[in-house]
Amino acid sequence: MKDQYGREVNYLRVSITDLCNLRCQYCMPESGIEKKAHSNILSFEEIIEIVETAVELGIDKIRITGGEPLVRKGVVSLIHSLSQIKGIKDLAMTTNGILLKEYAKDLKDAGLNRVNVSLDTLNEERYNEITRGGNIEAVMEGLEAAMTVGLTPLKINTVVIKDFNDDEIMDFVQMTLNLPIDVRFIELMPIGQVGVEGKHQFMSNKEIRGKLQGLIPVETEDSVAKIFKFPGAEGRIGFIDPISSHFCSTCNKIRLTSDGKVKTCLHNNDEVDLKDILLKKDHQLLKNTIEAVILDKPERHHLNEAQEPITRDMNKIGG
Ligand code: 5AD
Ligand code: SF4
Repeated sequence: MKDQYGREVNYLRVSITDLCNLRCQYCMPESGIEKKAHSNILSFEEIIEIVETAVELGIDKIRITGGEPLVRKGVVSLIHSLSQIKGIKDLAMTTNGILLKEYAKDLKDAGLNRVNVSLDTLNEERYNEITRGGNIEAVMEGLEAAMTVGLTPLKINTVVIKDFNDDEIMDFVQMTLNLPIDVRFIELMPIGQVGVEGKHQFMSNKEIRGKLQGLIPVETEDSVAKIFKFPGAEGRIGFIDPISSHFCSTCNKIRLTSDGKVKTCLHNNDEVDLKDILLKKDHQLLKNTIEAVILDKPERHHLNEAQEPITRDMNKIGG
């Protein structure tokens, strides 16, 4: 369905947990987060009901996120149930890849179409540093498993941080030359930890594009990323510029948090609670509520202007 600004909203990101087996510096507090009581987290039945209702309203792209979605018990059976919903054209997941080797085949068999894997550096020590303890080898094996079982097109999400990994941009680009992997450079957003600590340095994607000569633009339906490739390359290179050129006018997303709140914009603190509505067991009411939320999606974010800080950490939104 269209929102009041005429945008076709067809994409729902579903965070199924805010727990994670890593502690990326820009995403999570070092101490980790408190585990929520079971009753505060949407059950799989509730998630399925919300997704079914959203699909009735015209949502046809679903992405499962976290925290780290693969740490939630039963995730494969959830994927299986979601894959049975008629009307979903694309069922994808964003994962840090640590558990992907173990789960890739089961996820594919359960009906998952593809994965995006978060990977900010190809250097073992740096990976350990930015994720506060992660083992890059596990991610590499996860990527291989995803390619082997056909969770494709396989994408890597890379947040570029000045003086941390900006010297690795060419290494990531190199990957796209020889492998059928798309790399997407994401601008660091001042959300949660980043907003609080301010110790990581922003680098604009314009600056990165300026360093890469010979990129050929690729026409796609992607509403968010600008896509390019190098001549003869197997994979593509995408740029997601939430900061330097905000893409609000084509934004087609809404988000569901693991505790049952719908957010229509990553960059403000507004959310609508669906938990109480689910308790009423009134399908039409749920549908009307989600419809109203979509209609009310804000026109654009105000990140580049003074505004109240975004208080939810990224692990509680799912990117
Ligand atoms: N800015 C940009 N990207 C972020 N992610 C998490 N926190 C931030 C942030 N502050 C990314 C992760 C992952 C995706 C879900 O969001 O790296 O790829
Ligand atoms: Fe976990 Fe992803 Fe956050 Fe890193 S960015 S701590 S992998 S949820």
